[in-house]
Amino acid sequence: MSSNSFYDRDIVSIKDFTKDDLEFIFDATDKVSKLRPAERSELGKGRTLGYIFYEPSTRTRMSFEAAMASLGGSSIGISDLKSSSVEKGESLADTIRIIDLYSDVIVLRHPLDGSSRFAAELSQNPIINAGSGSEEHPTQALLDLYTILKEKKKIDGLSIAIVGDLKYGRTVYSLLYALTNYDVDLHLVSPPSLAVRKESIYEVQGKLRIKEHSELADGVLSDADVIYVTRIQRERFPDLQEYEKVRGTYTIDENTLAKAKPDVAVMHPLPRVDEISQNIDHTKNAIYFKQASYGKELRAALLALMLNESLPG
Ligand code: NCD
Repeated sequence: MSSNSFYDRDIVSIKDFTKDDLEFIFDATDKVSKLRPAERSELGKGRTLGYIFYEPSTRTRMSFEAAMASLGGSSIGISDLKSSSVEKGESLADTIRIIDLYSDVIVLRHPLDGSSRFAAELSQNPIINAGSGSEEHPTQALLDLYTILKEKKKIDGLSIAIVGDLKYGRTVYSLLYALTNYDVDLHLVSPPSLAVRKESIYEVQGKLRIKEHSELADGVLSDADVIYVTRIQRERFPDLQEYEKVRGTYTIDENTLAKAKPDVAVMHPLPRVDEISQNIDHTKNAIYFKQASYGKELRAALLALMLNESLPG
């Protein structure tokens, strides 16, 4: 394995990652997953992960905690702001300074774009962006790509449809930027009012073959190897009446699968609301729970790389 550039490094934007970086992390994930528990639990021994979530989380927080525990480390943090000094008016800057004193690596989710970059400038210990507004969610993109690699055995040459709220969904942006490192065809499917933000289209066009659609048309379904579904991000709408107009626009169900490739992989960063029918959960195409499971392994490997100059073996 080549040298580890993740040691003590902030994970703020997926744009900071080269293709070699991505592949290095995927290899490390394979490697850490195969370690014996005794060996694995040396990688974070005596180290502390500190987290603060200014927005709700289930998978991201729990998978980071489970990952840190599997490395022999511990986690401390705040996920209920009402029980923290944020409620008394403490600033993000002061809160980060304090978590920095008590931990070796900091996981931050915050509603503002730029929040993680700001925190990274303040803290001595590395910051992991676990969601910054509608801007980015880099570790989600890492686990998304790792899932595709494990389930499809490749990324290059695939046709990927990204469906749903492409305007506010931060996982979409990190995935889009990460995919610029690969040779893929992309179908971007959203209501016109929730299309990918123009500045990001400008940024990635030329690196990706992109087609934009407002319908999940038969031509898209018959072409896609992966359908990546996202939740309409209700909490980011300035006007809830606008949300009401687009909620429930797309639902992936048995009828959708009937028109898709037999081995299409249906992914979702979760939580889902009504965009994927539970009726397809049992199918081999539904890999969103597996995706969440890969998330723990990928985050364990990332933490191991950030906390150790090199991995064993
Ligand atoms: C996503 C998020 O927070 O951006 N959740 C996650 O981390 N898996 C997706 C979402 O909330 O829709």
